[in-house]
Amino acid sequence: MAKVLALLPLLLILAAFKPAPRPVADPTIPADIQALLDKYGCAACHNMERKLVGPKWTEIAAKKYSAKRIAQLVEKPEPANWPGYIPMAAQKVPKADMDKIAKWLANLK
Ligand code: HEC
Repeated sequence: MAKVLALLPLLLILAAFKPAPRPVADPTIPADIQALLDKYGCAACHNMERKLVGPKWTEIAAKKYSAKRIAQLVEKPEPANWPGYIPMAAQKVPKADMDKIAKWLANLK
């Protein structure tokens, strides 16, 4: 029993040093846009930091598409634009929300 009690402070210390969960929110993405990327599942395959299933947002932005073109490509993907990636399935996003995402992406540096 004494041994168990002796271990108690150690366990408490270990518990206190549990690493904080990594924040999911990316500070470089506006909160309203992040909410849409989460809502429509885009964030599962794209982010700012690295290649996931799909290219990074910044890599897509580097193609300098207009917002209109981005909306078209999300609705009707052209996988030939991204050799080495699996084809993205057509994404269904209501126009108002798609316009917000597309505008953000078109202006992303
Ligand atoms: C299951 C994974 C997946 C999801 C979910 C996904 N994407 Fe993609 N996306 C990809 C892949 C893979 C590519 C590259 C291949 C392609 O374009 O078909 C891509 C390419 C793109 C492109 C570049 C199109 C081009 O032709 O240059 C845009 C823009 C894009 N995605 C936006 C979105 C948006 C917005 C959403 C959410 C509504 C989304 N993606 C959801 C995987 C995904």
